[in-house]
Amino acid sequence: MRSYNRRQFIAATGALAALPGAAAFANQNSDVLSAQEAAVQLLPGGYGQTRLWGFNGGAPGPEIRLAQGSRLQRRLENQLPQPTSIHWHGIRIANAMDGVSGLTQSAVEAGSSFDYDFLVPDAGTYWYHAHNRSTEQVARGLYGPLIVEEPDPLDIDREDVLVLDDWLVDPETGQLNSDFEAPHALSHAGRIGNFITTNGVSDLTLETRKNERLRLRLINASNARIFPLQLQGLDGWTVALDGMPLAIPQKVTEPIVIAPAQRVDLIVDVVADAGQTAHVVQIGQQGAFSQVAFEVREGGAISRRSAPDALPPNTSVPVNLASATAFTLQMEGGAMGSLRSASLDGAEQTMNEIADAGRFWAFNGVADGIDGAPLARVGVGEHVRIAIRNDTAFPHAMHLHGMHFREISQNGELGPLRDTTLLERGVNREVAFVADNPGEWLLHCHMLSHAAAGMTTRIVVA
Ligand code: C2O
Ligand code: CU
Repeated sequence: MRSYNRRQFIAATGALAALPGAAAFANQNSDVLSAQEAAVQLLPGGYGQTRLWGFNGGAPGPEIRLAQGSRLQRRLENQLPQPTSIHWHGIRIANAMDGVSGLTQSAVEAGSSFDYDFLVPDAGTYWYHAHNRSTEQVARGLYGPLIVEEPDPLDIDREDVLVLDDWLVDPETGQLNSDFEAPHALSHAGRIGNFITTNGVSDLTLETRKNERLRLRLINASNARIFPLQLQGLDGWTVALDGMPLAIPQKVTEPIVIAPAQRVDLIVDVVADAGQTAHVVQIGQQGAFSQVAFEVREGGAISRRSAPDALPPNTSVPVNLASATAFTLQMEGGAMGSLRSASLDGAEQTMNEIADAGRFWAFNGVADGIDGAPLARVGVGEHVRIAIRNDTAFPHAMHLHGMHFREISQNGELGPLRDTTLLERGVNREVAFVADNPGEWLLHCHMLSHAAAGMTTRIVVA
């Protein structure tokens, strides 16, 4: 069995001996989410504490866990030096609670508060994150897991919520790089970190036993990093994507690719023997590293369970492609792109001019972002299909608020429900959904630097 090293912090100085990480979510038992500054031991020994922003003082913030169909109430208290708001990513939510500063609410000023109160209709793995100046606020640590439980417990021994992130840290100071609007990140692949964590630690180590069955809820909270993952000593099935159950669990035989904001639920059986270590392995460009280690203890069961059942489906209206209204979303711009000009503030401007305004990308030739005209206005219940064309040199993770869509495959078949779809460079993909949730919904790239630099539009359902 191969063994994997922990990823070393790039350009690190001094000794890096770190104890196996015991991850902790911030304070769980509270109906308040306090956005605040915090200092945490993010980096290994030899470094001091790193100053972050976190909900209730931690990153990830508290795990919110509730039953399907129940009511989520949280008061956001803003103790930051900057206005903020909370978006509940992937929840089919009432529009006024969607948490988009400047669209569904005003940003909550420093020292003020806002009460979120909504129902969670779907079971699954979701997350919440700041949605004002997200490029900065999510990178600083303002996010946490949101778990909606199915009515009946699964036949598993345990579940682990695994929040993946990468941090861009200055190796000299151990503090976050504070150039959140760096033109290179805005115009290239986004803000890619140099220190990777799971649940806020770089060496998350969990204990397990042979033949245990675990549910792993993977959440990619990073600004821009795509995580390709493999299983080692674990035999697994994908059972849900972006919270939504697959009709048939899919055996994991190839790398699991998780783009920013996406979630993957796995059921895994521990097949490594006692005394060995199983891993979720990240296959990075510089090699393979252990993302999460599972030390296998003595005393496991003699035999494995049979293959898992599908999770109970969340209700959804089937989309009818034949009657769907079609829209096109042309994504252009960025470094090595062919965009020469785009419309900004009502005037056609050259690439240099829009770059001076911090914009590097355009949707259908428009770089206005949230302030621009919507991509589409549709009626409540209208069936919609959007052909997204990635005419850029970078991958993009396109996220629709408020509703899940299905990817349409080459042969016209509908894929599973998702809220974020990854388009690799040069890839075109059509998605379809029933616009059954009234309101103004963002459609944007979840590479957050891209969203800030022009890759944002909205769909109005009225
Ligand atoms: Cu996860 Cu517009 O966000
Ligand atoms: Cu993008």
